[in-house]
Amino acid sequence: MTDTWYILGAGAMGTLTAHEFSRAHVQSCLLHHGSQTELRFLQCADDEHTLSAQPLTNLDQAEIKRLLVTTKAGQLAAALRGADTYLHPDAVIVTTANGLGMEAALAPLLGSRRLVRAVSTAAAFRQGGHQVTAVTAGETAVGDGQDRPAPWFLDGLQHVRGWRWSPDIGDRIHRKFAINCAINGLTASLGCRNGELLNGPGAESLAQLVAETEPVLRALGLWKDHLSLQAEVERVCRLTADNQSSMLQDILAQRPTEMDYLNGELLRRGRATGFELARNQQLVRAVRALELKAQ
Ligand code: PAF
Repeated sequence: MTDTWYILGAGAMGTLTAHEFSRAHVQSCLLHHGSQTELRFLQCADDEHTLSAQPLTNLDQAEIKRLLVTTKAGQLAAALRGADTYLHPDAVIVTTANGLGMEAALAPLLGSRRLVRAVSTAAAFRQGGHQVTAVTAGETAVGDGQDRPAPWFLDGLQHVRGWRWSPDIGDRIHRKFAINCAINGLTASLGCRNGELLNGPGAESLAQLVAETEPVLRALGLWKDHLSLQAEVERVCRLTADNQSSMLQDILAQRPTEMDYLNGELLRRGRATGFELARNQQLVRAVRALELKAQ
């Protein structure tokens, strides 16, 4: 029998993932930090699915051998701290969090375990309370730096719709980082959908931000594409024109954003290499002000 995947974080991403795992007959258990069993209602096109989320504290010590953490980067440390008692010493831990710069703070919490990164285009949003609406199951790339899929991937995750092993996960993380640095903060600060960055004042702000951002990303080895970042970002904005970026959703729902792990981290790395990034700095300040206003 294969090990159960424990999915920690019963928000939009965790709920959609738990549903996708159950569709693929991969044994999983959705977990949350509360003290009671809770329900989540997932709307997928015309179907509604009910899922239950169990309190983490119901588990036995060291019970978790496979953990998927679906929280954002800023909540990862707290999630891992809360799960510590329940984690097996050899547990595989996978995170779908975006961004860069969280690794050092997490290292003491991981012990000898490694944090495996997953890069996902799955999208869902929470409509208040326990209602979640799925936008797309998307594609999820998972990798630990090895060419061949790990046994824990082959015995379960490979059967989930859209989940693939990726030998070049580092490049995918960097690519998503670059695209998120261009789209997320701007849509959050302007309060607009992704498609609104293609025309008018939104397009102007995007062009200025990308013109400042691409050279530093290239210098840091975080954007290696032969295509310009501007062309790729416009393509993503066209494909996701009606979407509210995850950061805009966070601002609207008064949740902390991933800014520290996106443009905030870019500023830190850029400064260390001699780049002054005025527009990125302005954007980080604008998003922080919105976060503070919401507190
Ligand atoms: O973070 C997001 O919302 C997405 O990565 C993207 C590509 C910006 C589309 O909304």
